Amino acid sequence: MGSNYIAAVAGSSILAPMPTIRFLPGEKLLEVPRGRLLIEAIRDAEFPIASSCGDDLACARCGVRILAGRVNREAPIERDAKQRNRVDPELRLACAVRVHHDLEITADYWGPL
Ligand code: FES
Repeated sequence: MGSNYIAAVAGSSILAPMPTIRFLPGEKLLEVPRGRLLIEAIRDAEFPIASSCGDDLACARCGVRILAGRVNREAPIERDAKQRNRVDPELRLACAVRVHHDLEITADYWGPL
């Protein structure tokens, strides 16, 4: 290994085994298993999250703001649910997002930033 290994690591985009979500306001941090649904991680963190469809991409009540970090691209089913329910296009539906990278998130009803 040695310096070649370190150079390879520094030059790659190695994924952390447990991405960390930072919840704002409040600064709470939570490590989650890679690929966990964001809505499940929010519940794990004991933050309130609206839902009336059983996480089925129908109600669009689970909208959160991704303040930092990368998430999967919005699929047509998510975009349609937001349009149908007149949800701010800037929000992501937490039941449609899987956590693969560190994130910073908030919801409008969690309080001012
Ligand atoms: S919980 Fe209903 S769309 Fe996400």
